[in-house]
Amino acid sequence: MVYIQRRETFSASHRLHNADWSDAQNEAVFGKCSNRFGHGHNFQLIVTVKGHVDPQTGFVMNLVDLKAIMMAEVIDHVDHRNLNEDVPFLAGIMPSTENLAMAFWKRLSPAIEAKGAALHCIRIIETENNFVEYYGE
Ligand code: NI
Repeated sequence: MVYIQRRETFSASHRLHNADWSDAQNEAVFGKCSNRFGHGHNFQLIVTVKGHVDPQTGFVMNLVDLKAIMMAEVIDHVDHRNLNEDVPFLAGIMPSTENLAMAFWKRLSPAIEAKGAALHCIRIIETENNFVEYYGE
């Protein structure tokens, strides 16, 4: 089994806010991440795909295809958007980086499997110091 990775980037805003909670509780849990009009990040999305190497191409999966899938399924929908308001597939989901990783998995996994490979890991880098990984479980 060989693992390949592809990185794409997107810029987006979000707000961490639980509507069931008081302002004070939101402030206590989320701090400035709950500021009313949100804040932005330059996110990095790193997708790991696993599979066997095709003897004819030498590839697990053509990275041109993986790029196209990442753009069509995720980046084109989230880049330069407000993740709380502007993305239909995130409707009703509080756009923490953890929740983004799970939502992106649902969109990427079937498209990657259709190309004969398997999604292994979604890694999202939110800031220089904060990262999330999701393995589909
Ligand atoms: Ni944030």
